[in-house]
Amino acid sequence: MVASGFRAVERCDILGVAPFSDGPDFLFRPYLGPGHVAAIRQVADWMHEAGMTTRIDAAGNLVGRYEGHVDKALIIASHIDSVRDGGKYDGPLGVMLGIECVAALHDGGRRLPFAIEVYAFGDEEGSRFPAAMLTSRAVAGQIEPSALEVTDREGVTLMEALIALDLPFANFLGARRDPSNLIGYLEAHIEQGPVLEAEGLALGVVTAIAAQLRFEVTMTGVAGHAGTNSMALRKDALTAAAEAILAIERIARAGPDDLVATVGRMVVGPGAPNVVPGRVTFSIDIRSGAESVRDACAAEVRRTLTEIAAGRGIGLDIHLVHDLPASPCDSGFMALLSEAVEAGGQPARQIVSGAGHDAMVFTGITPTAMLFIRCKDGISHNPLESVEASDADAALTAMRLFIDKLEAKYV
Ligand code: GLV
Ligand code: MN
Ligand code: MN
Repeated sequence: MVASGFRAVERCDILGVAPFSDGPDFLFRPYLGPGHVAAIRQVADWMHEAGMTTRIDAAGNLVGRYEGHVDKALIIASHIDSVRDGGKYDGPLGVMLGIECVAALHDGGRRLPFAIEVYAFGDEEGSRFPAAMLTSRAVAGQIEPSALEVTDREGVTLMEALIALDLPFANFLGARRDPSNLIGYLEAHIEQGPVLEAEGLALGVVTAIAAQLRFEVTMTGVAGHAGTNSMALRKDALTAAAEAILAIERIARAGPDDLVATVGRMVVGPGAPNVVPGRVTFSIDIRSGAESVRDACAAEVRRTLTEIAAGRGIGLDIHLVHDLPASPCDSGFMALLSEAVEAGGQPARQIVSGAGHDAMVFTGITPTAMLFIRCKDGISHNPLESVEASDADAALTAMRLFIDKLEAKYV
């Protein structure tokens, strides 16, 4: 079958169920889980079919390489992990389209002046460990060794989890690529928002990716008997957390439109109906196109949570999980991608990404571009996520043209 966006979508559908999911009847493919390991094997087969050699790097990323006339490579990438009960296209579609770009070259017996490397990143979502983009940050050399001291909800450390792929923890940072050996970075991804659909456009060109902060908050009260602790005397960590979460919502709502703050995960301990909650941990994710807006929100959240905890006699710990700066795409790469989109007969709609992407860790080290693909009703991080195969095919056409234009510049 010739290279096509239709096949890319079909392959995402294949990856959306067991054995490529750890959820029995929903999609959940966390980093280094059995579904991820199975997906690596399957995607490696597809890469081989497309004429690539493959390897698994020190961080557990699958890397397919199609040689060019020189060693330097253009990376085409996205991620193959998913959120819990996620959709099938967030991440894998970009990887599958990268494979299709190479399949088209291979079918035509064509070699470029540069190599193409398709990366299937293992951790973008942070759905297993309390940190996101561990594996792309390792490749971009944008990670501190201390960030690797993470443990999942079952108490498994990253070091222990890497055993799933027989990878020695000590080498993790060895996944780093020397930027001088890169031509640039290209990622295609579903938009995960409603703008393109509302404007009747299949594709968009990303100008920048919003800045992110993620925290893990622990509120500590005193666990006790639900029947004997009077309302006035108890120290309930969960009611404190409830007040905190409403305050976070209020603070973010008062900011500009692109400021968003989300508490998406909470663990209540000890978690019994007849015990006053003694300990609550929850996540906070804050984003904005402007770091100053995001940081002002974070400062206000910190001040308000401190007041709430003090007022209730509750212990408070706010731990920074990650800080990703706003990431502008490369103007030269954006221009090439815009020309490629326009050649397909639609305007090159420029768009800021509120969602985080692996691309953001590459913007500081190599020219980076991102292509957005319309998705149904803007829904993502949800099993209802859906994309038209014809839109994925339009994306493939634009990506292939982008590569041609890059080749013409490079020669
Ligand atoms: C990834 O999907 C993120 O934006 O958190
Ligand atoms: Mn996602
Ligand atoms: Mn994604």
